[in-house]
Amino acid sequence: MKLYAFATQALFAAAALVSAAHANPFPDADLANGREIHYAKRCAACHTEKTSMDEAFIHTRADRKVRTLFDLRRYVSLCNMELKLELFPEDERDVAAYLNQRFYKLTQ
Ligand code: HEC
Repeated sequence: MKLYAFATQALFAAAALVSAAHANPFPDADLANGREIHYAKRCAACHTEKTSMDEAFIHTRADRKVRTLFDLRRYVSLCNMELKLELFPEDERDVAAYLNQRFYKLTQ
């Protein structure tokens, strides 16, 4: 009985750890750097220009492309490569983290 209680407790502790880890998928990201890139590299400017809507629209429209963290990383990388913005991998991570915190709120 005691052993069972202990095992249950351990299981809950493990589950809490896992969900805490999931809550922030970019634990090492520098959000201030991500925000700066979002404006300095004209991410926001081009998105508003292309959609004729505010900067949030492209990330919040009903048929947005990003549904998972995988998509988010892929799109940031795609925009970066396609447009030759020459972001370092850490910068891609930071801007993805910024967009996730501000718009997508994805955990997986
Ligand atoms: C020259 C224009 C341009 C620039 C600069 C640009 N993008 Fe984009 N981006 C687009 C267009 C156009 C789309 C929409 C593509 C689509 O709908 O298939 C897009 C889509 C995206 C999406 C997916 C939005 C969704 O549907 O959920 C993300 C994320 C994104 N861009 C990130 C970035 C980041 C980060 C930067 C800057 C580092 C950036 N983009 C710079 C043109 C641009």
